[in-house]
Amino acid sequence: MADLEELKLELNLLRKQINRHNILYYHKSEPEITDAEYDALKKRVSEIAEQIPEFQENYNDIGAMPDDRFSQVKHIEPMLSLDNAYDNGDMERFLSRVKRFLNISELEIMCEPKIDGVSFSAVYEDGVFVRAATRGDGHIGENITCNVETIKDFPKFLADIKGRLEVRGEIYIANEDFIKLNEFANPRNAASGSLKQLDATVTASRSLKYFAYSIIGGIMQTQYEVLHSLQLLGFCVNNHQFLARNLDEMLEFYNELYGCRYDLGYDIDGIVYKVNNLSLQNRLGNTSKAPRFAIAYKFPAICAKTKLTKISIQVGRTGTLTPVAELVPVNIGGVLVSRASLHNQDEVKRKDIREGDIVTVKRAGDVIPQVIEVDKSVRSANVHEFIFPKTCPECGSPLEGATIIRCTGEFICKAQIIAKLKHFISKDAFDIEGLGEKQIIFFYTLGLITQVTDIFILEDKLKSFDLSGQEGWGERSVTKLIDSIRRKKAITLDRFIFSLGIRSIGQVTAALLAHYYSSYKNWYQSMVALPSNETVMHELLCIANIGVETVKYLEIFFSNQYNIKILNDLASYLSIHSIDYENGSIFCNKTVVFTGTLTISRDEAKNKAKALGAIVSSSLSNKTNYLVVGSNPGSKYKKALELGIEILAEDQWHRLTSVTEKIS
Ligand code: IVH
Repeated sequence: MADLEELKLELNLLRKQINRHNILYYHKSEPEITDAEYDALKKRVSEIAEQIPEFQENYNDIGAMPDDRFSQVKHIEPMLSLDNAYDNGDMERFLSRVKRFLNISELEIMCEPKIDGVSFSAVYEDGVFVRAATRGDGHIGENITCNVETIKDFPKFLADIKGRLEVRGEIYIANEDFIKLNEFANPRNAASGSLKQLDATVTASRSLKYFAYSIIGGIMQTQYEVLHSLQLLGFCVNNHQFLARNLDEMLEFYNELYGCRYDLGYDIDGIVYKVNNLSLQNRLGNTSKAPRFAIAYKFPAICAKTKLTKISIQVGRTGTLTPVAELVPVNIGGVLVSRASLHNQDEVKRKDIREGDIVTVKRAGDVIPQVIEVDKSVRSANVHEFIFPKTCPECGSPLEGATIIRCTGEFICKAQIIAKLKHFISKDAFDIEGLGEKQIIFFYTLGLITQVTDIFILEDKLKSFDLSGQEGWGERSVTKLIDSIRRKKAITLDRFIFSLGIRSIGQVTAALLAHYYSSYKNWYQSMVALPSNETVMHELLCIANIGVETVKYLEIFFSNQYNIKILNDLASYLSIHSIDYENGSIFCNKTVVFTGTLTISRDEAKNKAKALGAIVSSSLSNKTNYLVVGSNPGSKYKKALELGIEILAEDQWHRLTSVTEKIS
């Protein structure tokens, strides 16, 4: 009996721990333990629960309590979790269990990557997107409709769908976008933290992506058909999928994806196997926490211990200080790891990471190595707590900020200047062939390029500067570089705005500004007026997806005379092209009607249509050529269906109207 009491006590303790980790993971997007450690806690709970019958029914709460900052959504069907397999033996047992249950010997299994993101449910009524939710506790999720609406290529309208249809899948962040955000420990936290924003404009600025993998309420018969139909409906579906007929084929797919997981561009943490036939899935049903028809075969986390020799501080383009662990190089799963980001000072404090420590570094499904923990048992006495610098280690300027700390020496900090120059010439900005990081540092050191404008007067500067004797800079290389700089003197407005590296202005916001203001002159005039002009501020806030944060940073940028001088100089060297809508638009002389709530303002949408030569009307008739549908459309949508008018979901419309660049 005493044993039973002890088990109950342990169970209680475990539950409290799990609850705490659930909240850290799901609500704060800041987990303190690894997935494997979390799985071990859950495994222990199920072991105990198996021994205590009265606990068996409800021991396994799924996920966490919904986050009360968001309104709640009750799932039509619970969003379950998946059972895990960790070795081939687990997989063999899964397959035989399923076959025994169904009393069959042959079975098709759909194999898909397990995306390491945040699961979502999206509900459509008569083909119209009405609601999206997170998993929450599996029964009640958080309403994230406005956030999901901002995700690129997320359909707001499905053609030819009647009644209710629910689509489920995983929202994730690509590794390259994760690296740009310094706040999070890994891409999954970044996806979750970016999605659960009360201000959806913040979500919009984070380049979230998704993969859809299930339909509830469809008429398909197999998971294979589900994936195919999702694709036809316009959803993003992962193209790594395989229909296996036996264990060998299932394991082959596992090995194949395990081998190329670092090339995918996003994190996967295993393979999900699903019985392909949906009626067999139905027969198998669910346990209280997971379906019996599916299993997740997790990739092993590859860890290695090594010495952390130094914590260096990197200063980024906007002055952010990022602590980086310099490691004694260690081979983890075939990759030599010598550095790992420590994200921010809170992370260093929380994990109590010190220079000289022996640390465990992990590369799992994830691309970016992480310092998981410190082996404190071997810490020597002369290892001291890491003291975050009080001034910028690059330029000595004062610092500002709490979790994210920044150097205030924007124009004197060498690290910031070089990072800004690198951004200016990057692929999505000026993209100057032959001018990369190495060359920028070279010219900076010689004092030839110390600000972005110098790039365009390099040709003149070199006339009176002797480069001979500098390795790699013969006459031919110089001419080549000057030529490619000359070629890039013509640029479109969206790229130009992006290249300036104004905080919070990524490619999407830059494109929105370029579309709205249409010419450099218009944009510049409004922006210089911004610091003293409320009308411009309101005008900006009316552009969908532009929030107060962006306005604040534009205001800061344009309040600085140095920036204004740089802009004027740039404008005198460059030819900044307006974006021309009129050329070759399919909407020219066509009648367009809008209905429902659009992600941009109605006025902006109408202006855009007019600029394309369209006739914008507020009522439908048989003269209408296109109906553009936002969320929650009214009766116009049904009427258009009856009249056979071509219907465009808002994102289709955006795609069709997206810029035709005119370089004159
Ligand atoms: S099917 C009953 N397919 O993994 C749940 N899930 O650990 C059926 N996940 O909650 C889910 N990729 O968020 C499925 N291709 C995939 C998946 C996938 C990632 C997530 C999903 C689920 C979690 C379980």
